[in-house]
Amino acid sequence: MTIWRPHLPDSEVPLYQAIANAIANDVVSGRLAEGSRLPPQRDLADELSVALTTVTRAYSEAERRGLVSGEVGRGTFVRRQESFHLRRTEAGPESCDLTINSLLPYPMGRELAKGMGRLLSGGDPWSVLDYQPPYGQWRQRQAGARFIHRAGVDGSPDRVLVTSGAQHAMAVVFSTLTNPGDLVLTGELTYSGMKSLANFLHIRLRGLLMDEEGIRPDAFEAACATTGAKALYCMPTLQNPTAAVMSVKRRQEIVAIAEAYELPVVEDDSYGFLIPEAKALASFQTRGTDFYYLTGTSKSLAPGLRIGFLHSPAAMVDRLAAAVSATTFMAAPPMAELVTAWLADGTADKVMEWKRNEARARQKSARRALASFDYRAHPASPHGWLTIPEPWCVSDFVAQAAMRGVLISPADDFAAGRATSTHAVRLCLGPVASRARLDEALSTLVEILEQPPRPGRTVV
Ligand SMILES: Cc1ncc(COP(=O)(O)O)c(C=O)c1O
Repeated sequence: MTIWRPHLPDSEVPLYQAIANAIANDVVSGRLAEGSRLPPQRDLADELSVALTTVTRAYSEAERRGLVSGEVGRGTFVRRQESFHLRRTEAGPESCDLTINSLLPYPMGRELAKGMGRLLSGGDPWSVLDYQPPYGQWRQRQAGARFIHRAGVDGSPDRVLVTSGAQHAMAVVFSTLTNPGDLVLTGELTYSGMKSLANFLHIRLRGLLMDEEGIRPDAFEAACATTGAKALYCMPTLQNPTAAVMSVKRRQEIVAIAEAYELPVVEDDSYGFLIPEAKALASFQTRGTDFYYLTGTSKSLAPGLRIGFLHSPAAMVDRLAAAVSATTFMAAPPMAELVTAWLADGTADKVMEWKRNEARARQKSARRALASFDYRAHPASPHGWLTIPEPWCVSDFVAQAAMRGVLISPADDFAAGRATSTHAVRLCLGPVASRARLDEALSTLVEILEQPPRPGRTVV
């Protein structure tokens, strides 16, 4: 009987890791199906002519990554996988994950301990322990209004809701504005959380042609005229994934078209704090259409300190608050209170300033490292868009990078339709602990691209 045999490409990673990587690849491709049994360790060691301890270590590594589980006396079996989990565990423990847009690990332990201590030892600990209104407390809404005022959004606290993050704000808006089957316009490449949300709410997305500034006005206008769409979802400042930034002229054009067709606009400004002078679409409003503006603290402070602020037309606030109530009931009060205190005492400004500088420094390194490739990003962006040169294809490049310990996201992850013909990947520069580690990861990507791709497997 033939036994499962790992495909072990030439690489510098230790053999046990290469075997664990091969298990990961075969689980991803389906060659190793859920529930299938890996060969007994001694058999595989004989088959590969390697020490038994190497296979034992490889199986432990695969178990540590959540790919398999060992059952005493029965053997080692492939576990059921969630695709998100798989993506993050394909590479080895030393891997460098450039797929998550969490921005720059600002060392905030001291501030956090101090801020939480103050909240709990303050006059009224119930302010963080009790239920609060789904709108958020008034002082939190005031803090939110001041925060978004930076982007030129009218700062009336009674139009601001506190949500459990930007993603939650999106869920609140789209579950209120749309019904299953409705169409929402967005860029042909868009934030993958919008794709998940559309899937969840059973709404359809139509991807609009984009250029270096983001959504093209001609494509937007044509879609407004012909599709009966219910809203536009867009990110004019540091678009995720392409890092595009709309000029003032482009913003005015998009607003004019939305107003002409009275199409509600949902602006996601999660990265706006990185370019403080950039103004929201709503600030270019000349006559009536509905503008929804949302942002969160996951990027500006930390994903664990997540709250969101959602600014909406006055007439919609109660309906949106009902959606907050129906989904999470309220944003977690300790987070909302901590952020409110940090926005007032300058801590949030300090953290954001640090992140702005760090993002610019990392972007500079990335532009330098990738100077001979088609790499695009605004200098303030925490992510960038790398077009893969011929003859590489994106999937081979992403797989090869994962084998070398660098995880990156292919363009298809962001395609508003089924797939995109764009041969590009998104690189997030923020999640890696140090600039030196990021530089290493970028050099690995360059090394890979400078080699020809490995000859492909023959499919018969
Ligand atoms: C454009 C965009 N919007 C929203 C989110 C979600 O943010 P939050 O963590 O605040 O829900 C992200 C996270 O990556 C994002 O990139």
